[in-house]
Amino acid sequence: MTTRITIKRPDDWHLHLRDNDMMRAALPYTARVFGRAICMPNLLPPVRTTADGKAYRERILAALPKGSKFKPLITCYLTDDTDPDDVERGFRDGVFTAVKMYPANATTNSAAGVTDYKKIERVLARMEKLGMRFLIHCEEVASGVDVFDREAVFIEQRLIPMTKRFPGLKIVHEHLSSKIGVDYVRSTGGQVGASITPYHMELTRTDWIGGGLRPYMFVMPVIKTEVDRLALREAATSGDACFFLGTDSAPHPVSRKLAQVGIPGIFAAPVAIESYVKIFEEEGKLDKLEAFASLNGPKHYGLHPNADTITLEKKPWVAPVAMKVEGPEEIALCHKGGETIEWQVVDC
Ligand code: DOR
Ligand code: ZN
Repeated sequence: MTTRITIKRPDDWHLHLRDNDMMRAALPYTARVFGRAICMPNLLPPVRTTADGKAYRERILAALPKGSKFKPLITCYLTDDTDPDDVERGFRDGVFTAVKMYPANATTNSAAGVTDYKKIERVLARMEKLGMRFLIHCEEVASGVDVFDREAVFIEQRLIPMTKRFPGLKIVHEHLSSKIGVDYVRSTGGQVGASITPYHMELTRTDWIGGGLRPYMFVMPVIKTEVDRLALREAATSGDACFFLGTDSAPHPVSRKLAQVGIPGIFAAPVAIESYVKIFEEEGKLDKLEAFASLNGPKHYGLHPNADTITLEKKPWVAPVAMKVEGPEEIALCHKGGETIEWQVVDC
């Protein structure tokens, strides 16, 4: 039985670091283990321009623990009015790694997202030319589309036409959540890659609402069925280059999670790599962990993997229940808070 594993330092290809007090509280959990992270731009107001991106990166760098080599990768929040010239400037200046698209009102802070897909074509054409990655929250939120079908409908109605119109545009299907999505990503021959969260591979909708409502398990895209969960586990642990690690760690003040209208997001950062290791162990695929966590992501982004390593051991510890946040934002509940976690990072 393997009880110790060393892999190249992983990256988190999908992270919500937030801003100000929440960011300062959440950042150390990610910076300790991960070399880089795609920092999602859905702040209030969003990171819409190169100037916004530069300022956000500065705020993150200023909040890093002393001596940390963590590198935040900044993304541009796409709107109907995004200027292709500004996107190009941001990319060439090394401010923006990618552009992120939220369909308007699909999730947290997405009100300024895309409403008219015709209007973003100039930006997509420019990104295709530049070789800049396009990250998509793949859910169709038109009325009449069932919340459990949003991913499948988006793939059919938006993503497939987009890949045909821009065949040179490399895409990331973010937080893949369904078997239909797994099959689709595999069929694209590398044009579309996908980040996969730990919790879409751990939980089903029965865990979420079948034994009393667990509001902290509410995320977008929603957690789906056992068939979907198993397909995601198979995909992640297959070693296939199109699937890679992205926690979608998304802290929220507990009052907003438990409000009349709760907000989607799971704060997974404190137990992120430990959760993935357990999944790979359960699937008998620890030998594929490094590909998923540390190699496939950089490959899809056209970047080098990290040079150094981290080591994990089977050494139980208890996950924190909540993260304390300075100021008025009180606390954020942690994924698996209070549970015993089997694997522990012992060297990073
Ligand atoms: O559950 C989610 N939370 N999904 C998202 O797409 C956004 C995220 C957030 O920012 O809270
Ligand atoms: Zn997200």
